[in-house]
Amino acid sequence: MSIGKSIAFIGGGNMAEALVKGCLRAGLFEPAQITVADASADRLAYIGTQYGVKTTSDNGEACRSAAILVLSVKPQVMPHVLAEAKGSVGHKPLVVSVAAGVPIATIAAEFGQDARIIRAMPNTPALILEGAAAVAKGGGATAEDLSIAVKIFEAVGIAVVVDEKLMDAVTGLSGSGPAYIFTVIDALADGGVKMGLPRETALKLVAQTTLGAAKLILETGKHPGVLKEGVTSPGGTTIAGLHRLEDGGVRSALMGAVEAATLRSKELGKKEG
Ligand SMILES: NC(=O)c1ccc[n+]([C@@H]2O[C@H](COP(=O)([O-])OP(=O)(O)OC[C@H]3O[C@@H](n4cnc5c(N)ncnc54)[C@H](OP(=O)(O)O)[C@@H]3O)[C@@H](O)[C@H]2O)c1
Repeated sequence: MSIGKSIAFIGGGNMAEALVKGCLRAGLFEPAQITVADASADRLAYIGTQYGVKTTSDNGEACRSAAILVLSVKPQVMPHVLAEAKGSVGHKPLVVSVAAGVPIATIAAEFGQDARIIRAMPNTPALILEGAAAVAKGGGATAEDLSIAVKIFEAVGIAVVVDEKLMDAVTGLSGSGPAYIFTVIDALADGGVKMGLPRETALKLVAQTTLGAAKLILETGKHPGVLKEGVTSPGGTTIAGLHRLEDGGVRSALMGAVEAATLRSKELGKKEG
């Protein structure tokens, strides 16, 4: 299971911590093979103590020693980090970027057109090792590079491979998706409260119902329409509830949310590019 290479994270924030935790748990790397670089000494002290990995405040040092380099800083810090790291990637590490909206071409412009670059779009549930990530391969990356990146993101959830041009759609679906689901859960819990359930009980029931329904789809491989049919008896309660959802245009609203977020992601990408 071990990847057998060294890995460095530039930026030791939430996403880097999730990946370190997941990779260690999956046995992909030994603590001694992991280096985390961050601007904050407090953050480095925490990461070092918590996970037993190497830490440094010198991004260049982390880059030079890594076979795999994960760029996990905020998108707005990326230009600075790329310029700084440029001189330290002569050994052509596999570069994995998780920065939302930063195209592979922007990284290749600094690291070279033949640089081995993978762009990933994880989501927040990665922080509890239940993420959904998409990864896209740059021209210089090999099939083995892609498979390593998939393993890294599978250590914090599931990972799918897409063409880079679909990254805006991924952002609009699974990137922004947790917020849509939080809203749906909150609204359903409100419904429970309206019908007399205590708030805490309603929230607990609906959160577990959401988890259970999602697991049924993933574990049975059945289409959600088929599963829905299975719980909708003629003249019963569920069909009465579903009718109200259709009245409220819930499907159209959710499809529109993904479309709007995808278009917004494209728009932001153009502004930054
Ligand atoms: N969190 C998510 O769920 C999620 C989902 C999808 C994509 N992403 C992407 O993941 C990346 C990281 O997000 P995050 O949530 O982990 O952010 P974060 O918690 O803010 O982590 C970024 C870390 O980088 C440090 N840093 C800032 N400038 C630096 C520099 N020049 N060199 C080294 N380290 C530096 C920051 O330190 P300071 O705090 O001291 O500035 C911070 O500890 C972002 O590009 C984001 O788009 C995150």
